[in-house]
Amino acid sequence: IIRSVVTGCGSYLPARRVTNDDLSKIVDTSDEWIVERTGIHARHLAADGELTSHMALKAARAAIANAGIDAQEIDTIILGTTTPDNTFPATAVTVQAELGLHHGAAFDVQAVCSGFVYALTIADSFIRSGQSKTVLVIGAETFSRLLDWNDRTTCVLFGDGAGAVIVQAGEGEGTNADRGILTAHLHSDGRYKEKLYVDGGPSSTQTVGHVRMEGRDVFRHAVVNIADTITESLAATGLTAADIDWFVPHQANKRILDGTAKRIGLPPEKVIMTVGEHGNTSAASVPLALDTALKDGRIKRGNLVLLEAMGGGFTWGSVLLRW
Ligand code: ACO
Repeated sequence: IIRSVVTGCGSYLPARRVTNDDLSKIVDTSDEWIVERTGIHARHLAADGELTSHMALKAARAAIANAGIDAQEIDTIILGTTTPDNTFPATAVTVQAELGLHHGAAFDVQAVCSGFVYALTIADSFIRSGQSKTVLVIGAETFSRLLDWNDRTTCVLFGDGAGAVIVQAGEGEGTNADRGILTAHLHSDGRYKEKLYVDGGPSSTQTVGHVRMEGRDVFRHAVVNIADTITESLAATGLTAADIDWFVPHQANKRILDGTAKRIGLPPEKVIMTVGEHGNTSAASVPLALDTALKDGRIKRGNLVLLEAMGGGFTWGSVLLRW
């Protein structure tokens, strides 16, 4: 059987690190409030003129190098983002051009914070159907550009960054026998589209708009939806929570992650937590967290890794893979 094997990972954070104390000079907030409610200590923000495509390209190059492939082998680029450089074309085609690729397909996926999990699930389907052989999957965001910097209830939560993986068709033989994506599940429920949204867009206002959120409702739904999709991933594979070596969740808020881990019975030391230093980087958060745990040696070959995300829409989903 053809399996989708993640063969490389890379990430990029903009240089500028902004602490909670820095934010307390702009809005009425404090380090104590932000840390207690979210676990966030700092976030990185893109420099003036630094675009989603610039960060996506840096993460992509790191993933290509990590996989040890020639960029020309890539036949599909799928970029999860809510902050494209332009309304169109897709930011993925800018990355394609910058990589010097003139073949295959490149497109963006809009699923907000679930964008990377959506993009990875599409990559898995393309590979297993024979449509693609080597897919570059990216999550990249300049989320800071969507923030209302006068709204303390949202502007303290988010950051910018990018992460990428290379996914390749594996034959599932020899030492690779059970490597790769084991199962993937996606969901959305548009009844909740007004709980977390941007109040603008090309069709409605011809402006970009700002993030608006009902934080408490988002929190409540996040814990339930994430736990549900983890349960369905385990049920689909006959595995249990005890089999999971590493949980790599979307990094929205430490309290959401603690609540989810508790609900499914995962010990805190199995949870990869980068929200403290990255904030919520939307579609970039899962590959950024994955890359952090790969580079510091926590995730090793053979480990069972569970990725999940939840975001505006609501959208949510999970990918279970053997590293
Ligand atoms: N600094 C200081 N005070 C603040 C701040 C701030 N940055 N933001 C809000 N407050 C105040 C509020 O004005 C309110 O004051 P009041 O009682 O005088 O009216 C008080 O703090 C409590 O506000 P709540 O919104 O009730 O605070 P809550 O405990 O719900 O925490 C938070 C807010 C952190 C946003 C929480 O609801 C949450 O984490 N929700 C999840 C949202 C999330 O993670 N979204 C990310 C996108 S979705 C995703 O990725 C899953």
